[in-house]
Amino acid sequence: MNSAQLRKIFLEFFEKKGHKIVPSSSLIPSDPSVLFTTAGMQQFKPYFLGEKSPYGNRAVSVQKCLRTSDIDEVGDESHLTFFEMLGNFSFGVSAEALSRNAKDEAGYFKKEAIEMAIEFLTKKCKLSKKKLWFTFFSGQAGLPADADSKNLLLESGIAPERILSFNKETNWWGPTGNEGPCGPTVEIHFDLLGKPCDSGEKCLPNCRCGRFIEIWNLVFNEYYQNQAGELSALEQKGVDTGMGLERLAAACQKKNSVFETDLFAPIMKIVNKGDNPEKQRVIADHIRSAVFLISEDIMPLNVERGYVLRRLLRKIFTNIEILGLEQKKIYELVKAVIENYQDVYPELGRNEEGIITVVQQESEKFERAKEAGRKIYDKIKQSAPEGRITGANAFDLYSTHSIPLEITEEWVRRDNMEIKERDDFFKLQKQHQEISRAGAEKKFGGLGQEAISPEAIKLHTATHLLHASLRKVLGDSVKQMGSDITPQRLRFDFSFDRKLSDEELRKIEETVNEKIRENLFVKKEERPLKEALESGALAFFKEKYPDIVSVYSIGEFSKEICAGPHSESTGALGNFKIIKQESVGSGIRRIKAALH
Ligand code: ALA
Repeated sequence: MNSAQLRKIFLEFFEKKGHKIVPSSSLIPSDPSVLFTTAGMQQFKPYFLGEKSPYGNRAVSVQKCLRTSDIDEVGDESHLTFFEMLGNFSFGVSAEALSRNAKDEAGYFKKEAIEMAIEFLTKKCKLSKKKLWFTFFSGQAGLPADADSKNLLLESGIAPERILSFNKETNWWGPTGNEGPCGPTVEIHFDLLGKPCDSGEKCLPNCRCGRFIEIWNLVFNEYYQNQAGELSALEQKGVDTGMGLERLAAACQKKNSVFETDLFAPIMKIVNKGDNPEKQRVIADHIRSAVFLISEDIMPLNVERGYVLRRLLRKIFTNIEILGLEQKKIYELVKAVIENYQDVYPELGRNEEGIITVVQQESEKFERAKEAGRKIYDKIKQSAPEGRITGANAFDLYSTHSIPLEITEEWVRRDNMEIKERDDFFKLQKQHQEISRAGAEKKFGGLGQEAISPEAIKLHTATHLLHASLRKVLGDSVKQMGSDITPQRLRFDFSFDRKLSDEELRKIEETVNEKIRENLFVKKEERPLKEALESGALAFFKEKYPDIVSVYSIGEFSKEICAGPHSESTGALGNFKIIKQESVGSGIRRIKAALH
């Protein structure tokens, strides 16, 4: 059965059982605490918590999803970033509907959910019952084992040896975001290979050998988890299920990996070169995510969703180069994705030209970065003994010119050399990540990087422009004494011994706005602290700096040591307005400002 048929029979099966078909929501969720839509249930979250559902108590959908949590596992048989989730949902059992004998209008819980799942897989998909394995929650940390599910599986005729229990890490799901519904799960695994790996009897579902593929997750939302992580029982118990279309297709099409299914065939055909299936799969996976993200107007950037897109695209460019394919293959890939999906997701077809332009621009940026990086690489080679390139050199290329380690390795390989002290790359990378995180947490009141709002990032860049403008208008005696940002405004404290005149304030404001209009590029470089200070980068010495620091330059106008994050260029900041000036103790002035 091809994947178009699988989508269709899934929706029809549940529609016949009283479910309202609901279209996929956007990949960009309305819940601001999560970056992407990672599950079908996300658009229904309020209805699990008692808000009245406009779809009644039963819904079914095919949801486009994007998960970055598995990104490092992409390349094996089953992990993906973009995928489609087939899901059926129940928002609580209505006693009123049951009393009218309107069974379909009432929601359902474990019994119906388990029975329908088995019926769909065995009767509609024609998968052998003997190849299906089931896991349920074993109980943990004061939470009871899910004995009901176990009994229901036995009653459905599943052999006891194919019913296993696992702890919370495996058989518990949710909440998405900071809080929400969650509960124990029943996971359905399909035996793809039919025989155990070398671990013999221990080769059971969740063995990582590739024999089993987890196809369906049935979540029983019995609890609510609050922001402090505390659980309380939900009055209204719901069902949230999710089945990966790609994995179901692998099972139904008798393939050993999702990449062999019809969902990937046209894409794999283009990258099928050489003997590096892992790199081919990474390209095939990432191109789908990239095309879907761009079709929703996400642009490659250095923060948040745009950063994920940039990473995906650059990984594709890199792997294309390593496989020895031409870079222009990427356009064939984009077209193959659009062709394969536009019937189901028309937004792809409508945006074909725009999608190609975005990919092209990012590709050109990456080529320019590579050219610049290559020059430095050649210099290191010439000046270093025996042309040796170290892990530290590779990190330098990565942090200053965004050259991925794989590209440097490829250059080194083509030069018949090896990277010396390669581990230093990872040590430096880790050090650097810790510094950025600590810096960001300090500046933004304990929020992780991902939670920083786009407004705060813009205001942060505006703060640097303000700092430089103050020095331009009032002189170099101005020194930063403190800074604070909320999504609404920035606050900047600096050393200066008198009130600023209206004329001075106007000039400062105008200077910032001029620099915004010039749309200056914000450049980030990693430098040893000493070198950074010698180059004239401003430092706010209340912080203790590490040996390697990030320096952010805005055109020629501003240069500061800072943990970021920042906007890519100033053009996006809008209009800068000083709200007020104040005195905060002797010799220190404060300015509050906003962007409109
Ligand atoms: N929401 C559940 C999952 O994503 C079904 O696995």
